[in-house]
Amino acid sequence: MIQRNGRTGEPIDLSIDCAGIRSPNPFWLASGPPANSSGQVMRAFDMGWGGAVWKTLGDPITNTASRYGAIPYQGRNVAGLNNIELITDRPLEVNLKEIAEVKKKYPNHAVVVSLMVETKDEWRDIIKRCEDTGCDGFELNFGCPHGMCERGMGSAVGQEPKVLEEIAGWVMEFASIPVLVKLTPNITDVLYPAMAAQRGGVDGVSLVNTFKSVIGIDHDTLSPIPSVGGEGTSGGYCGPAIKPIALHMVTRLGKAPEFHLPISGVGGVQSWEDALDFLLLGASSIQVCTAAMHYGFKIVDDMILGLEEWMREKGYSRIDEFVGKALPNYKEWGDLNLNFKIVAEIDPGTCIECQLCYAACEDGAHQCIELPKGTRVPRVIEEECVGCNLCQIVCPVEGCITMVERDTGLPRESWNERVAKGTAGAGSLH
Ligand SMILES: Cc1cc2nc3c(=O)[nH]c(=O)nc-3n(C[C@H](O)[C@H](O)[C@H](O)COP(=O)(O)O)c2cc1C
Repeated sequence: MIQRNGRTGEPIDLSIDCAGIRSPNPFWLASGPPANSSGQVMRAFDMGWGGAVWKTLGDPITNTASRYGAIPYQGRNVAGLNNIELITDRPLEVNLKEIAEVKKKYPNHAVVVSLMVETKDEWRDIIKRCEDTGCDGFELNFGCPHGMCERGMGSAVGQEPKVLEEIAGWVMEFASIPVLVKLTPNITDVLYPAMAAQRGGVDGVSLVNTFKSVIGIDHDTLSPIPSVGGEGTSGGYCGPAIKPIALHMVTRLGKAPEFHLPISGVGGVQSWEDALDFLLLGASSIQVCTAAMHYGFKIVDDMILGLEEWMREKGYSRIDEFVGKALPNYKEWGDLNLNFKIVAEIDPGTCIECQLCYAACEDGAHQCIELPKGTRVPRVIEEECVGCNLCQIVCPVEGCITMVERDTGLPRESWNERVAKGTAGAGSLH
């Protein structure tokens, strides 16, 4: 999928190398229902996906019915999906045969096999059998937060850095292809398990797996959702709602000087813009589960076209030219410029007089918008405006409220700089 870059005339190359795993584009199906069989993975590759992380292999389990629940958003859209599904319920031999078939037919696509077993002997055995399929890499599922953790696997490993490091070490002893550790977000600071994975010697990390969650109660049966015959349990939350938290965790690793491994970004990606956020914050491949479950494999078309278009517009020819490019602009709060000022401006020409900005500012923010007598068009009291953005966020008319920079005449100064000068005030002694 090589196209000309409009600005430089260079061809656009979407291919990537994430921890030694190569694929024709950065878009991989994440381990889950969409990557459960050869029929699905082959169809996905034909439709444009660059790679797939096979549904986690291990000792096949018995699943429950039902397994999925969703928080709806604006009708049929899904804000977040909760699942209590476990790893593969298909026999290992069937999965291995199908992985080999896929690899034979698509030698240039990335086929990563997700694994979860318990003892050292089981790891040795499954790694050998998987490598015989010709797969390109492994992803160790140390993140599943339901069902498997009760059996001492999944997030039970991901939440114990010492255990994680030990098992990662076993895998590195046996594996001859790249290994990613998939991290659980159900932890105080993702850097701890990430550093354990790095110490264990693996080639990269994937983040995130799902967030442990209860999405709600059926108000008639009083069963947690999803309901298994009137009873329920905590599941794993994923989809658009988790993207900001996943991005934070990717950023945390991208900014940590002691962490050096490549990152495969996962969590709430459903558009090229979502994927670009992860790439700009340091992920070198992108994984998608919920959006593929919801909309089918065709969503990758827009992801590829949108990313190519953006690259053409910005003059990039290859993905690695901009991976992590936003990281220098991510600062700790204490390093932000306290003398930077913006204020809201309302365009009376496009205002529909709904006064949502007025209500939000008056009741929920800083009382900087007034309703002048004789008009229904709100007016910003500029001297009072703190530049918080809330009025722009609630305004239903795109472009009606803009945030405009005002020159304060003051030099850049952060809280940390004020602490150093002794002018910071509250908290500066801590
Ligand atoms: C129904 C379902 C089953 C999943 N099964 C697995 C699995 O077997 N192994 C795994 O590592 N992750 C599994 N996941 C987690 C996804 O791979 C992914 O990390 C998570 O859903 C976040 O990405 P998303 O927001 O694009 O869905 C599963 C997710 C869902 C929704």
